[in-house]
Amino acid sequence: MIYMSVTIGTPLQASAFKVLLLGSGELGKEVVISLQRLGVEVHAADRYDHAPAMQVAHYSYTLNMADAEELKQLIQKIQPHLIVPEIEAIATQVLVEIEQQNIATVIPSAKAVNLTMNREGIRRLAAEELGLPTSAYRFADSIESFRAACDDIGYPNFVKPVMSSSGKGQSRVKSFDEVDAAWEYAQTGGRVNQGKVIVESQIDFDFEITLLTVRAKNAETGEIETQYCDPIGHRQDAGDYVESWQPQAMTPAALEESKRIAHKVTAALGGCGIFGVELFVKGDKVWFSEVSPRPHDTGLVTLASQFQSEFELHARAILGLPVNTTRHSVAASAVIYAGVDDTNLSFSGLNLALSNPNTDLRLFGKPEGFKRRRMGVATARAETTDQARELALETASQVSVQQN
Ligand SMILES: Nc1ncnc2c1ncn2[C@@H]1O[C@H](COP(=O)(O)OP(=O)(O)O)[C@@H](O)[C@H]1O
Ligand SMILES: [Mg+2]
Repeated sequence: MIYMSVTIGTPLQASAFKVLLLGSGELGKEVVISLQRLGVEVHAADRYDHAPAMQVAHYSYTLNMADAEELKQLIQKIQPHLIVPEIEAIATQVLVEIEQQNIATVIPSAKAVNLTMNREGIRRLAAEELGLPTSAYRFADSIESFRAACDDIGYPNFVKPVMSSSGKGQSRVKSFDEVDAAWEYAQTGGRVNQGKVIVESQIDFDFEITLLTVRAKNAETGEIETQYCDPIGHRQDAGDYVESWQPQAMTPAALEESKRIAHKVTAALGGCGIFGVELFVKGDKVWFSEVSPRPHDTGLVTLASQFQSEFELHARAILGLPVNTTRHSVAASAVIYAGVDDTNLSFSGLNLALSNPNTDLRLFGKPEGFKRRRMGVATARAETTDQARELALETASQVSVQQN
């Protein structure tokens, strides 16, 4: 007996199965494309017009998603079946209410979205409730408590606003002399001016990975099962990903421990969908760092390496459909930055970049570039991860960005 799963209607008609995407960046764009392929009606929201995912959705909306009233009104107007957050800066309390009142399903769960929007929520869950290994940490919300926290944790340490992402407001503090500057920087770099920071001891890892973990329903029983993609290695520069590759070689013991940690944290967050579990690895030892309850930027490499990319896995899992995490190739990805602050940019050198049959590109179509804004990504397949990394970096460097 196969259990009864979702029924998908016709987009733009009364039977439509509707998904509302909150945040319309490049990761959301690929999720939208995957949902479109399955006949889902997609509504995309962001704080600015013509965001990447808006360009491929049926409908788009520009609003302040951190404003509870605006968000509530949008949800009432659309009446989506699923709400899929793509960013953290959302009035998550609204999502908790929506879930409680059974108005829509929040992906993967309101609890997951609520806990992961704030570093304190997810860190306390992982370390204090689940007992997972993490760096030592303290929270501080004033310059005095911050100085004390830094002294307690020691140096070097990592300082991050509790509400921030992509390295914003983050610093590595090497000695007491740098403490006051790190506080100042954290106060300006957070998402909201909340003031609170986490101070983490530095983990001296061999490498760091993203373990893409999918919670999806079994096709026959409808029970939620946990599956893993092969580990993705990545390199971060100033807290932002610049290249990633799959698979990252690691010991069987470290892989098993990584899966144990990922299973525990994703089970506690609940729901269906993909999670990017960030882990630090040294030999057989593994530390939990953080988790995104949605596709992960380093997972862009799966566009080239897997039968179902992380975006297709997410689309299927949130619809209650079965997934396949099998990798078919060794691959790598490398980021293409704008390099300038300007709108209306052009991209050239594409013929050269794509002249190797094992390379591919995504240009996100962002209306405005900043020096360090990610505008595209190059992917490459090869025999080994080293070769794939080299080819992906070369491909990315062949794309040049011009001002008009
Ligand atoms: N405690 C730590 N020890 C060592 N490296 C760290 C630590 N915390 C962060 N980093 C480095 O900084 C990067 C970004 O930190 P992360 O907590 O993932 O912030 P973000 O939410 O901005 O991605 C990590 O991928 C890692 O390279
Ligand atoms: Mg991270």
